[in-house]
Amino acid sequence: MLVLLNRLLFIIFISTISFSAFSEELNKNYLKTNWSFKGIFGTFDRASLQRGYQVYQEVCAGCHSAQHLSYRNLSENGGPEFSIEEAKAIAAQFEVEDGPNSDGEMFMRPARLSDKFVKPYPNVEASTAANGGAYPPDMSVLAKARAGGADYIYSLLMGYEEPPAGFELDDGVYYNKYMPGNKIKMSAPLLEGLVDYSDGTQASVDQMSKDVTAFLVWASEPHLEAQHRMGFKVIIYLIILLTLVYMSKQKVWSRFGAKKEPEEETFDKVEKVVTEYEGEDPKTFK
Ligand code: HEC
Repeated sequence: MLVLLNRLLFIIFISTISFSAFSEELNKNYLKTNWSFKGIFGTFDRASLQRGYQVYQEVCAGCHSAQHLSYRNLSENGGPEFSIEEAKAIAAQFEVEDGPNSDGEMFMRPARLSDKFVKPYPNVEASTAANGGAYPPDMSVLAKARAGGADYIYSLLMGYEEPPAGFELDDGVYYNKYMPGNKIKMSAPLLEGLVDYSDGTQASVDQMSKDVTAFLVWASEPHLEAQHRMGFKVIIYLIILLTLVYMSKQKVWSRFGAKKEPEEETFDKVEKVVTEYEGEDPKTFK
C-alpha cells in the first residue's frame, strides 16, 4: 500500500511539473497578471466582472457578438451578480424581434431576462463585410477557444505598438505584438478614459483590459466557481477515503505480520525438547 501510495504521489508530482512546464510554454510570451480566478480556490472579482460587462457592452459589442449569453446570466451566482432588477433594466435597453402577433406580423419589443444578448450583425457574412473582410469572433467562448486564454486576450488588448521599421502594413491592418503574425484587422479598441465607470474606478487601458478579460473568462466558464468548490470537496473526500483505506489495510494485515516470530520460537522449543530427550541432534536423524 505504501509503495502504491508513493507511486501515486510520484505520478501526480511528475504530471503537475510537466503540465505547468507545458502551460508555461504556451504562455511564455504573454503579459502575466495575477488573475483572481486562477488556481483551485479562484473566484471572480464581482466589481471587475460588472465593469467588464460595461466595457464589453459599450465598446466590444459594437462588433463582437456573445451569442451564448442571456441577460439572466448577468444576475446568476458566480457571475457579475447584478441584482435581478439591474439585469432586467439592462435587458430592457435592447430591442429584440418577436412575433408573429395576431396579424401575423413580426414586431420589436424590449428584451427580457430570457433573451440572448443582442447581436451587432445578423450573421457572420454581414459582420465580416462591415469589418474590412475580417470576422470579429463571437465572444461567448473566446477565452476558452484561444490557447493562452485570459493572458492572451489581455496581452492582445495591451499589445498595440508602432510597427518596427520596414514592417509592411496594408490599410485597415494594425501592428500587434501578441497577434500571431503581428497583424490584426481590429484597431486598438480601448483608449484612456473610454468608459465612465460608475464605481469611480480609473478607466485606464490596463484596467479596462483586465476587467473585460475577466468578463470574457466568466462568459466562457460561467460555472468556474462552482467547479472549483466541487474540486476542493472531491480532494478532501479522496484524502479522507485514502486515510481510511490505509488504516483498514494496516489493521487487516497486522494479523499476518505478527505471526512469524512465535512460529519460529515454537519450532526452536520443540527442537530443544527433542534434543534433550533423545540426547542427540534431531537434524542427524535418518
Ligand atoms: C470596430 C469593430 C471592433 C471592436 C469595437 C472590437 N473588435 Fe475585436 N476584433 C474585430 C475584428 C474585425 C477582429 C478580427 C481581427 C483579425 O482577424 O485580424 C477582432 C479580433 C479580436 C480578438 C482576436 C481574436 C482572435 O482571433 O484571436 C480579440 C481578443 C478581440 N477582438 C477583442 C476585443 C475586445 C475585448 C473588444 C472590446 C474592448 C473588441 N475586440 C472590440 C473588431 C472589433
